[in-house]
Amino acid sequence: MQFRMMKTIIEPFRIKSVEPIRFTTEKERERILKDAGFNPFLFHADDVLIDLLTDSGTAAMSAKQWSGIMDGDESYAGARSFYSFEKSVKDITGYQYIIPTHQGRAAEKILFTILGGTGKSVPNNTHFDTTRANIEYSGAEAVDLVIDEGKDPNSLYPFKGNMDIEKLENFIKETGPENIPIGMMTITNNAGGGQPVSMENLCAVRNALHNYNIPFFLDACRFAENAYFIKLREKGYADKSVKDIAQEIFSIADGCTMSAKKDGLVNMGGFLAMNDEKLAQQARNILIVTEGFPTYGGLSGRDLEAIAQGLVEVVDEHYLRYRLRSVEYLGEKLIAAGVPILQPPGGHAIYINASEFAPHIPPEQYPGQSVVCELYRVGGIRAVEIGSVMFGKKDKKTGEFIPASMELVRLAIPRRVYTQSHIDYVVEVIIEMFKRRQSLKGYTITYEAPMLRHFTALFEPVS
Ligand code: F0G
Repeated sequence: MQFRMMKTIIEPFRIKSVEPIRFTTEKERERILKDAGFNPFLFHADDVLIDLLTDSGTAAMSAKQWSGIMDGDESYAGARSFYSFEKSVKDITGYQYIIPTHQGRAAEKILFTILGGTGKSVPNNTHFDTTRANIEYSGAEAVDLVIDEGKDPNSLYPFKGNMDIEKLENFIKETGPENIPIGMMTITNNAGGGQPVSMENLCAVRNALHNYNIPFFLDACRFAENAYFIKLREKGYADKSVKDIAQEIFSIADGCTMSAKKDGLVNMGGFLAMNDEKLAQQARNILIVTEGFPTYGGLSGRDLEAIAQGLVEVVDEHYLRYRLRSVEYLGEKLIAAGVPILQPPGGHAIYINASEFAPHIPPEQYPGQSVVCELYRVGGIRAVEIGSVMFGKKDKKTGEFIPASMELVRLAIPRRVYTQSHIDYVVEVIIEMFKRRQSLKGYTITYEAPMLRHFTALFEPVS
């Protein structure tokens, strides 16, 4: 049923079970920050009021998913729950071979164990960290070919996740198709701000790859959000159902990796899916060694049931309308107050542009980390820095600091977890901080691990 007269987009659910969140004082938060070395990854989650660290594995499940959990079949082989999972994944993706994994990166690990290796290159719009890490771990190279608009925080281009087709064609010619075992597209493009990819671009990428017999896979974590963006923004899709659009997206590619912790609406799970029988056979052989028997692959029967139901719920258009609107709502309020954010709002997160928010803090003093710490100190909100803490480097020869290309702070919105008043509170905290932004201080790193330092680094404010 449609209520066309009403402008207010409401949460399309009511709440049956609640989880209290813990209020702390500013003084307590100052101590907590200090004890954690000013790194929110090292907080106890109980000390966080509103947790926007990630949208991954943080969704609220529905009553139907919970009842599926009670009904999970925990048989080692051939569990009923596997067949309901397989049916649901096939219904959306249309792929022949469905291989459950414990999360997205496990699917990536299996895929690149088979297809990666020294001398190989894998193009993508922008590889997510774990995809890049799994490709590089195999000895291959991960290459990003997103369009230029996708790297401009102020461009309002509607499909900033698209791949540059000319760059892709040149890349194939220069690298040699025999050295490209697979091409990928990440929908939506998380590392580029949760920006969508158009159907037209997916087709063009597929054609460019297939011209050279290179298989095309999707990193499909946020496929439903991408499908809804296509419905809203791409010509010819306004009257199609999101499920039809999603099926069309998957039909363009030869397979996918999936973290069900995003658009599977579950707390754990993923899969690898494809049409190539030989590749599926190889993948299952590795799965048995690393994850488990092919009908559970690192998951409990109950997890498989929850994914089966989550994939039905995620293409519901009332849900997606609310989902994209609630992220856009946060973005709109911040833009109206003059707060610099990456535009337009993505599907799962808002990214504050910290170099404009705190221009007095130079990149080597981590403006994003400063904004992250202040968000927690002022409002008990946890966000994540995506800037020079995460991607900054030192020149190997001179030791000189090389900043990240952008200094961002990601506010990722968990699915079906927070209501509009929580978001209003987040807006109020950020606007309050923005008014006093001159008082933000830079940080120095006092400890860092040799790899992926952002998870465990320790900081001190610059006096
Ligand atoms: N691909 C993309 C685009 C992702 O965003 C993620 C996870 C993965 C793959 C890996 O999936 O965590 O199930 O192994 N992104 C999370 C985030 C961690 O916070 O953006 P996973």
